[in-house]
Amino acid sequence: MERIDGAPWVGTSWKMTKTLAEGREFARGLAEALAAEPRLRERVRPFVIPPHTALAAVAAELEGSGVVVGAQNAHWEDAGAWTGEVSVPQVADAGAALVEIGHSERREHFGETVETTAAKVAATLRHGLTPLLCVGEPAEVRDAGGSAEHILAQVRGALDGLSEEELGRVLVAYEPIWAIGEHGRPATVPELEAPFAALQGEFGSRTAAILYGGSVHQDNAAELLAMDDVDGLFVGRAAWRLEGYLELLRLAAG
Ligand code: 13P
Repeated sequence: MERIDGAPWVGTSWKMTKTLAEGREFARGLAEALAAEPRLRERVRPFVIPPHTALAAVAAELEGSGVVVGAQNAHWEDAGAWTGEVSVPQVADAGAALVEIGHSERREHFGETVETTAAKVAATLRHGLTPLLCVGEPAEVRDAGGSAEHILAQVRGALDGLSEEELGRVLVAYEPIWAIGEHGRPATVPELEAPFAALQGEFGSRTAAILYGGSVHQDNAAELLAMDDVDGLFVGRAAWRLEGYLELLRLAAG
């Protein structure tokens, strides 16, 4: 079965939710649904990013399903005395093919910087995994008209020095901080036009894809995916129930 060129990426990070049993159940149901609806696999690139604790189990359930499994974070060093951290070779060993890097929650609460995101992107590429680099600006920056410059600086800093071949393996997710989570509100299509034009203008043809994330729901997914500059969606809450995620995949499949 061939996936059509340019099929949108539609993925979810579970953040710090789900037990091992819940993760397995979701993954098993997803694999069954994709087997029953091959159209979804042809027309969408699904990815699921469980917490580290469920990574191996979810990857095992989703083997051969066409779903890319990712880790929510990984350290830039391959091994060593970094208590509490997990390396790229370790998440690869557990079944991850993708590593999420620089989510705003990690930048805000865990000291992620442009320098650490750059080191993590490099480590991820070095081991042949796909980096999913997340960038986004706070509301004050948006209000001051600085969104595009802010996110371009984050992307430039994280991808500085990569070869064109390496750049071509990077996924970028634009997730305005003010749009993420319970206290966020979804960005509107007009609000996204300038930031996406800036990202696509500088990185669109050089990176693998540029996704949108932040309060994506079943009722705004179609209009976001209809934007020429949006290559996919990165979803939190609206995809944490399997039915919700399947609904988004079906919307994206058209
Ligand atoms: P929500 O979809 O819950 O706003 O989260 C988005 C996000 O942070 C995905 O990384």
